[in-house]
Amino acid sequence: MYRITAVCLGNICRSPMAEAVLRSRIDAAGLSQPVLVDSAGTDGWHIDEDADPRALTTLRSAGYDLTHAGRQITTEWFLEPGRPDLLLTMDASNYTTVIDLAPDDPSRGRVHMLRSFDPSLAGLTPGDPRLDVPDPWYGAHDGFVEVLAMIEAAADGLVARLPTMLDA
Ligand code: 4NP
Repeated sequence: MYRITAVCLGNICRSPMAEAVLRSRIDAAGLSQPVLVDSAGTDGWHIDEDADPRALTTLRSAGYDLTHAGRQITTEWFLEPGRPDLLLTMDASNYTTVIDLAPDDPSRGRVHMLRSFDPSLAGLTPGDPRLDVPDPWYGAHDGFVEVLAMIEAAADGLVARLPTMLDA
């Protein structure tokens, strides 16, 4: 079982949306081994809460389904059996936080910016603002629609590369 964990700040907007899109794309791809997709926040404000209603509306209008309860990532996540093989952070701040939680070099090597898998952004490195999925929490519904498009482009790029990654 290969495990992918999407990570944002609150685990109610961006990373649950990434979880729903990635799961849908991966299911459709029919890969050679099972891939588990989940999500987490770097903060614990929304533990056990459902996703933001704006995220759910945006997902459902685009045909995605999601059942959600917020969780917070900790260093223990890197140490437990069944730990994530790939952690996909939404912005540079989430990236730095997760890198700092990771206990060793192999763990840090599993952490990537989600949008680094978007082929149109190839070659950009973490910290480049063009790799950020901006936080839609304070904005209007439009922001969620833009976030969904960014996530879909990155998910397509990732799913194209996953067969090679699963064989590695
Ligand atoms: P997310 O968005 O990181 O995409 O889930 C946020 C959700 C909640 C808050 C901030 C960002 N908050 O301040 O509660």
